[in-house]
Amino acid sequence: MKTSFDDFEKRKKDHIRLALDEGTQALTSSGFNRIRLIHQALPEFSFNDVNLNVKLLDRDFSSPHFVSSMTAGHENSYKINLNLARAAVANNWLMAVGSQRRELTDAAAVQEWKNINSDVAGLNLISNIGILELLSHPTENVLKLVENLGAIGIFVHLNPLQELFQGNPQVDMTGALKAIEELVKQSTVPVLVKEVGFGINTDLSRRLFSVGVKIVDVSGNGGTHWGQLEAMRQEQGSLLANTAYAFRDWGQSTVECLLDLQDQNLFSHIWASGGVRSGVDSAKCLALGARAVGIAQPLMKAAVVSEEETIKTMQQFDFQLKAAMYCSGLKKCEDFLHQKVWYGTNH
Ligand SMILES: Cc1cc2nc3c(=O)[nH]c(=O)nc-3n(C[C@H](O)[C@H](O)[C@H](O)COP(=O)(O)O)c2cc1C
Repeated sequence: MKTSFDDFEKRKKDHIRLALDEGTQALTSSGFNRIRLIHQALPEFSFNDVNLNVKLLDRDFSSPHFVSSMTAGHENSYKINLNLARAAVANNWLMAVGSQRRELTDAAAVQEWKNINSDVAGLNLISNIGILELLSHPTENVLKLVENLGAIGIFVHLNPLQELFQGNPQVDMTGALKAIEELVKQSTVPVLVKEVGFGINTDLSRRLFSVGVKIVDVSGNGGTHWGQLEAMRQEQGSLLANTAYAFRDWGQSTVECLLDLQDQNLFSHIWASGGVRSGVDSAKCLALGARAVGIAQPLMKAAVVSEEETIKTMQQFDFQLKAAMYCSGLKKCEDFLHQKVWYGTNH
């Protein structure tokens, strides 16, 4: 579907405004309350011994948290991304960028990232493109997006429900797995695949890994609801505005995705995001086998305010995760892989 740059700008600005409206958060629980970490009343080590250091995509980071893909390519995005980028470097987090779609057709859009990269030394970025763009542009052009950013990986986002409620009834993902496979073959950096908040099931994870995808970020339901959000942009009383409510509990929650993947021996490849609202949620993701945890909406909330607010929000997530690890008797993120520290509850 063709959109003008004006439509694109308006859509991206609406996305930020509406993502900050609590009405676009999923109705159903993210499922984190179904998981309880086992309290360790006597951790026989100092809190200072707990560290969050991890290796992601062969780079060293000070936290398994990463900035989940958000916005780019419009009037307000530069300041927001600069706040996110500076905060990511200050905390040594990995940062995934929002869809680079605009760069495919507007050479000037590349400048946003050039400026940010020259302003913020030491930034580690992951590119992002939607599956429909991957299907409709030559693979070499998509790989140019990685080059534009100096990225260490590229996320392909899958979003059938979002596309429908964005008003794209012609959505057609025929040949998508093949296109991802081709991207993997031609890419010099790892290819990662995510949803935007409805989950990636175990069967699809297997198919993605079978074509060489390095990481699946399950991106489950429980946080920002992109069906509802897009419907709120539609004309009141229209088919799309009137029908989205039926999808308020659509998809698998982040916890359901991770539980389904248990015992599948895929964990070195699984990341989690979607509805993560505290470092305790993150600890539960790591306990269920994820290697990294992405946060979107809470960081957008902070990044529209300031760099300081974004740094503070990241520090809160890290502190909560560290505290959860201490009270679970774990010193390192890796320890989650060797010790079962959770059980399911009926909530
Ligand atoms: C303002 C905003 C813009 C987003 N833009 C993108 C995008 O361009 N590409 C993408 O893959 N995901 C995008 N997302 C989805 C997030 O990466 C994430 O999968 C989803 O919001 C669920 O995480 P959350 O519950 O922490 O918000 C966006 C999210 C927000 C809040």
